[in-house]
Amino acid sequence: MSVVKTNEPQERPTVYLTRKEHFSASHRLFNPKFTEEENLATYGKCAYPNGHGHNYEIEVTVAGEPGKDTGMILDLKKLSDLIDEEILSKVDHKHLNMDVDFLKGIIPTAENIAVAFWRVLCPKLTAGRLYSIRVFETPNNFAEYRG
Ligand code: NI
Repeated sequence: MSVVKTNEPQERPTVYLTRKEHFSASHRLFNPKFTEEENLATYGKCAYPNGHGHNYEIEVTVAGEPGKDTGMILDLKKLSDLIDEEILSKVDHKHLNMDVDFLKGIIPTAENIAVAFWRVLCPKLTAGRLYSIRVFETPNNFAEYRG
């Protein structure tokens, strides 16, 4: 009778690797279809007319199988450089409603930002598979998109 060793490592285990980054930016949440009162009722302080800032944190998670020889899914330094080039350099110290091409016409909630970041980053990834992007607007509030 054979014994199933459930704690044996899998041949090619899938592992999830995450890089954290941060940026600071301003935004205003409002929908031009709503009245001022409706915008305030919907978005609260984030609807104030002149905008305000957040210290955003993001977590980019890539799934993959560690290479046999390297033990890595991808080089985290390269992932960090890619996030910097494709996202952070475009949003850090910017006004998200006005200054960022890929956010034009989008209400910059954490939800919408997570989706927009995914669409920018996913085609540029050369190793691993993009698994999730988390956007923290505050330490307690974040949105996660998994494609
Ligand atoms: Ni806000």
